[in-house]
Amino acid sequence: MRFTIYQAIGLLSLVSVSLSRSLPEKRQTSVAAWVSTEQNIALSSLFRNIGSSGEFAKSADPGAVIASPSTSSPDYYYQWTRDSAMVFKVLLNQYINGNSSLETMLKEYATESAKLQKTSNPSGSYTTGGIGEPKFYVNGAAFTGGWGRPQLDGPAIRATVLTKFANMLLDAGETSYVTSTLYDSAFPTNSVIKADLEYVANYWTNSGFDLWEEVNGQHFFTYIVQYRALVEGAELANRLGDTGAGTYYTTQAAAIKAKLPSFWSSSKGYLLATLNTGRTGLDCGTLLGSLHGNGARGFNVYPASSPEVLATVKALVDSMKTLYAINTASGAPGVAIGRYPEDVYDGVGTSTANPWFICTLTTAEVLFTAAKEFTAAGSITVTSVNQAFLQQFKSSASSGTTYAAGSTDFTSIIAAINTYADTFVATAQLHAASNGSLSEQFSRTDGSQKGARDLTWSYASFLTTAAARAGTIAF
Ligand code: NOJ
Ligand code: NOJ
Repeated sequence: MRFTIYQAIGLLSLVSVSLSRSLPEKRQTSVAAWVSTEQNIALSSLFRNIGSSGEFAKSADPGAVIASPSTSSPDYYYQWTRDSAMVFKVLLNQYINGNSSLETMLKEYATESAKLQKTSNPSGSYTTGGIGEPKFYVNGAAFTGGWGRPQLDGPAIRATVLTKFANMLLDAGETSYVTSTLYDSAFPTNSVIKADLEYVANYWTNSGFDLWEEVNGQHFFTYIVQYRALVEGAELANRLGDTGAGTYYTTQAAAIKAKLPSFWSSSKGYLLATLNTGRTGLDCGTLLGSLHGNGARGFNVYPASSPEVLATVKALVDSMKTLYAINTASGAPGVAIGRYPEDVYDGVGTSTANPWFICTLTTAEVLFTAAKEFTAAGSITVTSVNQAFLQQFKSSASSGTTYAAGSTDFTSIIAAINTYADTFVATAQLHAASNGSLSEQFSRTDGSQKGARDLTWSYASFLTTAAARAGTIAF
C-alpha cells in the first residue's frame, strides 16, 4: 500500500498526537503539585516496608525495615542498620510534629534494634564489635555471607533517632521505660542507646566500610554522624545522671570533630568522602553527612550553607553533568545525581552506574537547607571557597562581598538557590514511576527505574527533601 503525501502528513500528525498523549502527566504537573501528591505516596510506601504490619514486610519482625521488597536481582529483602535509622528518622519527625500514634512503632524499632545488637554476627558479639554489623535478615538473624563490614555509621544514626525519642519520653514522664530500655547507666549496658554510644565512642578510630559498603577507611559521612550521636548522647547521659559516660562521649565527640577538617582538600576545592583513596573523593555521601550531622538542631559542623559544602555541591554536580546521557538530553529539567562519579554498581551487579533518587533528592535538600540557613543568618558572605557556587546565581559575586537580608541581591540569590533546588526535584519527578514508586536508581540513558524497587530509603529521602522544600529541616 502506498501513501499519498497527505496521508503521510495525516499519519505523522497522528504519531505526534499519540506521542504527546503518551507523555506522563507528571511532566505537565508543577513541582509543587507533584511534591504534594508524592508525599502521601512516599509515606504509605514507607509503611508498607516496615514489619510486621507493612504489606511487603509481613514476615519481618515488628519494627524491622526491609530495604526493599525485592528478593532477587537484587535481593534487598534484609534490614540494614543505616537504612532503618534513616527511615525511622522520618517517622520520628512525624512524631515530633504531633503524630503520637507512632510511639508504638518507634518502641518496636527500639526493641528490634536491641535484638540485633545482641545477635552475634561476623563483625563480633554485643561487646566485641558486633554492633557495627550492617545487615541482618528481616527476622533478626545474622547474615553470615561475605560483606563490607563493619560499617560504623548505622549505630550512630540509630542512636541519634532513639536519643531524641528518649528525651521526648522523659519530657512526657515515661521515665521507667527510658531508663530500663533506652538508656541505663549500667556498664556493661543493657540498653539500646548506650550500647550504640559505647560502640561509637570505643570504635570510631577503627576503619570501617563507607555508607555505600565498598571502601574500608575513614569517611566524612561516618565521622560526622558519629560526632552528632556522641554530642546528643552525652547530653542524655548527663540528663540521666550517667555523668562519667557523658564526659567520655563528649571527649570522643571533640576528637572526631577535630578530624573533620582533614577531609577538606584545598587543592581540589571540595570535601573528600574518604581519606587516602584513589578516587576523586566527590560523593553524595558528603552531602548526606552535612544534613544528618547537623539536622534541625544545627551543630555548625559543615552545615549545608557552609562554603565547603556548597563548593562540594557544585563540584559533584559538575562531575555528573555530562556523565549521564539523560543529563544532556534536550529538555532535561535538571542534573540527575549518582553516588559518586566512579561508581559502577548498576543496581544488580557491576557494569555502569546510574543516578540515584537518594542522591538527586539530597542535592535538592542541601540547597533548600542552605537557603533556609542563609535566611536565618541574615546574610550571605562570598568567600574564595563558595564564590564559584554563588556565581551561578549572581555572576558578579566576588570573595569578600556580603549580601544582607532585605537587599535585592540577597532576595534574588535565595530565590535562585531554591529554584535551582527544584530542578533536582523535577528530575526525580520526571523519572519517578507514574504511580509514584521510587526505586534505588534510574537509568543513565533513558531514566527508567533501575535497581531495587520501592527502596524504603528513597521514600525517606523524598520526605525529608519535601520537608526542607517547605522550610522545615528534619531532626
Ligand atoms: C552491594 C552494595 O550494597 C552496594 O553498595 C555496592 O555498590 C554493590 N554491592 C557492589 O559492590
Ligand atoms: C546499597 C547502598 O549502597 C547502601 O547504602 C544501602 O544501605 C544498601 N544498598 C541497602 O539499601
